[in-house]
Amino acid sequence: MATVEAIGGIGQSVKRKEDDRLIQGRGNYVGDIALPRMLHLALLRSPVAHARIGAIDTEAAAAADGVVAVVTGKDLEAHNLAWMPTLSGDTQAVLATDKVRFQGQEVAAVVAESAHAAHDALELIEVDYEPLPPVVDPQVALEAGAPLIRDDKEGQEDNRCYEWEAGDAEATSRAFEDADAVVELETHYPRCHPAPLETCGCVADVNPATGKATIYMTSQAPHVHRTLFAMVAGLPEQNIQIISPDIGGGFGNKVPIYPGYVVATAASLLIGRPVKWIESRSENLISTGFARDYHMKGELALNRDGKMLGLRVRLVSDNGAFYADAQPSKCRAGLFGIVTGSYDLPAAHVSAVGAYTNKAPGGVAYRCSFRVTEASFLIERLVQSAAYELDIDPAEVRLRNFIRPEQFPYRSPTGFEYDSGDYDRAMRMALESVGYEELRREQEELRREGKLLGIGIASFTEVVGAGHGKDYDIAGIKMFDSAELRVHPTGKAILKLGVKSQGQGHETTFAQIVAEELGIPADDITVREGDTDNTPYGLGTYASRSTPTAGAAAAVIARKVREKGEQIAAHLLEAAPEDLEWETGRFFVKGSPDRSVTIQDVAFAAYTNPPDGVEPGLEGVHYYDPPNMTFPFGTYVAVVEVDAETGEWKVRRLVAVDDCGVRINPMIVEGQIHGGLAEGYGIAAMQLITFDDEGNCIGSNFMDYLIPTAWETPRFETLETVTPSPHHPIGAKGVGESATVGSPAAFVNAVIDALAHMGVRNIDMPVTSAKVWEAIHRAGGAR
Ligand code: CDP
Repeated sequence: MATVEAIGGIGQSVKRKEDDRLIQGRGNYVGDIALPRMLHLALLRSPVAHARIGAIDTEAAAAADGVVAVVTGKDLEAHNLAWMPTLSGDTQAVLATDKVRFQGQEVAAVVAESAHAAHDALELIEVDYEPLPPVVDPQVALEAGAPLIRDDKEGQEDNRCYEWEAGDAEATSRAFEDADAVVELETHYPRCHPAPLETCGCVADVNPATGKATIYMTSQAPHVHRTLFAMVAGLPEQNIQIISPDIGGGFGNKVPIYPGYVVATAASLLIGRPVKWIESRSENLISTGFARDYHMKGELALNRDGKMLGLRVRLVSDNGAFYADAQPSKCRAGLFGIVTGSYDLPAAHVSAVGAYTNKAPGGVAYRCSFRVTEASFLIERLVQSAAYELDIDPAEVRLRNFIRPEQFPYRSPTGFEYDSGDYDRAMRMALESVGYEELRREQEELRREGKLLGIGIASFTEVVGAGHGKDYDIAGIKMFDSAELRVHPTGKAILKLGVKSQGQGHETTFAQIVAEELGIPADDITVREGDTDNTPYGLGTYASRSTPTAGAAAAVIARKVREKGEQIAAHLLEAAPEDLEWETGRFFVKGSPDRSVTIQDVAFAAYTNPPDGVEPGLEGVHYYDPPNMTFPFGTYVAVVEVDAETGEWKVRRLVAVDDCGVRINPMIVEGQIHGGLAEGYGIAAMQLITFDDEGNCIGSNFMDYLIPTAWETPRFETLETVTPSPHHPIGAKGVGESATVGSPAAFVNAVIDALAHMGVRNIDMPVTSAKVWEAIHRAGGAR
């Protein structure tokens, strides 16, 4: 008999199917694609951050060996392709025509017989740049009289790109009037870059005979990209096929549409040959979707017992020269409203202003739901400051303010309805595991010896799984997702999804969902994603949305297929459908367990012996529009040792308790959490993209932009609680991003905690040893 364990159903740590090919070097990435007569494209990028463009001399480049064409913005203008819409409703230059607005912006392209010839010819292009003052600081960008960056936009008179607010300003002011204490924190969540192992690229193949455009592309959202391509290029959508083959990490970086994709497609269309564009590491780091860059000011009002009364947040977001990341249309600052976190806050008000600056466009959901990382960081840092201010233990302040289990579904003051949670339990589990009280005693003792130990807590709540179509859309397209399931006559199945894995293990976990619902072994189910001709429409994979949306769609369609299977089983067993019962992998007649048929028998009969009046075949498609998002949560505790002489800090322990509802594949979930924790640690400790006063990007290679390797990354201890999402068909919540959301605050809180008795309250990320050393010395040395 089939059992859930044997077939690899939900809760089984099935080994990842995709790894067989990926670890043997048999993956198929965009870089692997080579088509007959394929040309290569290279992009000329602006060396300056802000300048008017004069003449562009392409003559020498066009005459160089192997060069087929040189393309400028003016050439694209003739085809109405010089500008394109962005996923956030702005416009972005494909190749600059009037001005360059950031260092690294695309100015011209060379198409040649080889990649080397294309790159060599770039050096022969001469561009007259007439320098303009660069605007690097978003606060300066918003000041009156700042140089106008987006003079291309009609009616745009300053560098404001959006304004947004949530919550109740008046109720929040009243809460502040009644407060015993107000804690303030100003902090910058710095710019960082997702830096996926594989950079972005495409192979565009427009067939001159049929007009069909096949575009192999590093895309986390192939269906939406197809629609945008149809709109930008004016190609009929049914003639565009976007294929996202294996993707070597996305982390939000492969959501935006980049000029390289558009120019390669336009070049293929005009030249009639396939065109390949693969960006270098430096191009990826200086020109593609950055993340974060939020300047935040938070104020928390409390009574003297530590009960939170109100939260007020103002933030300035640095979006770079184009608002080109993807945020849901109504949420200009993403889902930042989750800033009230895990706390029962009676009142809150959040206001945000987005600024254009002379930097690459950014703000992608880098391993987080839209802007949730920034929100979580702010509230967790504020809560810790409140604890010191009121002289209450940081764990205790949280316990006094958590939303209690019986309050769910909980309506937050900024408008979310949290589905479920048990914050108390997760936190107590983390504290117990780390030995919190003992650590506090040790901290006291060490302080007497002049040694610094810090314990940092972050109790985060995320909002993932966008969305419900009523409230959330990207460029007007509702945020649902889809699954198509076909069971073949021999009982094997194929599941096609609108989302697109970039390494998360979808081929394994989505097969497990269908295995659970239909009783077909997960090994007998192939999962296909990322080919727009052969998968149902979906919004793609980012912001931990795949399990809450496509995972739900897979469960629902498997249930529908099973319902049809029941009719076929009834026919085979000569019984009425209502007299049948289901157990993993088979239908049987109630009271006669021996009279049964397996799901495989049913599948065969669907094609060979269907009942009269029942359509042959066993398949279906489901579009799932979730009723709400899901709200995974957890508590992380970091313990660090700080060297008072050097400011160096080392992680002694990191205990992570995560709750993502029902875990489909616990091993994969753990892997996701490990990955997220490593990224969270990297951001807290070293990852920083910054700019000099001229707008030059400092961090254009891995010598300057530091990402943690296995050497620096600390050991992680992971634990779980399970609070299912009541509205999700299998009770799962997304998890892919949680650890990156939760952990930076835990690490930073730990370092500050080590220094708190000296009055240190804030150190901005990345928390380098130099900054820690400085903080210690400003406070008068270790005491
Ligand atoms: O959208 P994305 O795939 O990045 O995020 P996710 O839906 O949170 O899923 C990340 C990976 O963890 C996928 O392979 C999921 O199927 C798996 N997962 C799981 O096994 N159980 C959960 N409760 C949530 C996710």
